[in-house]
Amino acid sequence: NKGKYEHYMQKEIHEQPESLTTSMRGRLIRGGSSKKKSVLLGGLKDHLKTIRRSRRIVFIGCGTSYNAALAARPILEELSDIPVMMEIASDLLDRQAPVYRDDTIIFVSQSGETADTLNALEYARENGALCVGITNTVGSAIARNTHCGVHINAGSEIGVASTKAYTSQIVVLAMVALAIGADTVSTKQRREGIIESLLNLPGKIREVLKLDEQMKDLARSLISEQSLVMFGRGYNYATALEGALKVKEVALMHSEGILAGEMKHGLLALVDENLPIVVITTRDQCFSKQQSVIQQLKAKRSTDSYVYRRRCSNLPLQLLAYHLTVLRGYNVDQPRNLAKSVTTE
Ligand code: UD1
Ligand code: F6R
Repeated sequence: NKGKYEHYMQKEIHEQPESLTTSMRGRLIRGGSSKKKSVLLGGLKDHLKTIRRSRRIVFIGCGTSYNAALAARPILEELSDIPVMMEIASDLLDRQAPVYRDDTIIFVSQSGETADTLNALEYARENGALCVGITNTVGSAIARNTHCGVHINAGSEIGVASTKAYTSQIVVLAMVALAIGADTVSTKQRREGIIESLLNLPGKIREVLKLDEQMKDLARSLISEQSLVMFGRGYNYATALEGALKVKEVALMHSEGILAGEMKHGLLALVDENLPIVVITTRDQCFSKQQSVIQQLKAKRSTDSYVYRRRCSNLPLQLLAYHLTVLRGYNVDQPRNLAKSVTTE
């Protein structure tokens, strides 16, 4: 039921304040004035000791789920102090990459049924790793075949392009990072700051959703472009990849997400007066570096579009991809050649 919305993708973008609240419900505890803030993940609590002893943590996923893991990687590295590696499911299998008994492997999949991710799970189990699932679908193959895990509880997602599941995956992975990380006097302030920010996120998202009209105007200006480049770095590297993936898959426009630190190593050659570019910057440790990227791009051209986002929300880019698709006259909820759940290799 789409309710007041025209499309499922639109509905799912707009229901993120609620889906994120559900993902956090009962898991993040604010506590009273004397009680401290804490995190409780029922699906992981019996395995935390093993995870903390692992030699490395490896994220495995495909498409948007891979991007969600990439978005969560910095916080997991910071809080766990364990090396975190990224693997695209099919690539791990193509390489038959080494997997060890003292690895913790986290499988991220909205549907819990993606063939590549499932095959990688089977491979990791055979190699004796601890396999953790992060999925939206109770009873799915990944939920059943992992040793433990967390349901993201985002509610069913019908639009083929993943939107609310992406943000819930990131929030759940941030909670996983808090659960794995040591809760000590020296980390208390930082941890409580993260918990507070997570709890405030639904309210922030309500604010960001007000950018709807602005993003529609931006989409209007891009309607007949051939290509759209998105630059991000740090926390926003994943935002750039995910923003570009959405534009490709639903708006059927070529788009690339680029790590801004790599700009001079290739993509800069394509920059001229005409190439539309989105630079994603937030007030984080990468802010001044991104400002310098903007200056360098400006030196090559006279017109620019900028999108500002808050940490943990690629929402403006979801809105942009949605409007671009509708304005270009394509099917938003069922893009050509794509299926919600990819059950073949
Ligand atoms: C669970 C209940 C929830 C209840 C809550 C009360 C389920 C599905 N969840 O939520 O309804 O309100 O207790 O305390 O019954 N798992 C995997 N792999 C995955 C995902 C999950 O093995 O990919 C396992 C977990 O390790 C856990 C179980 O599935 O044993 C349920 O996970 P989750 O729903 O995240 O647990 P809770 O949040 O505790
Ligand atoms: C993008 C999209 C796909 C999926 C990918 C993995 O919007 O929907 O890229 O993210 O097929 O699917 P799951 O998460 O179900 O394993």
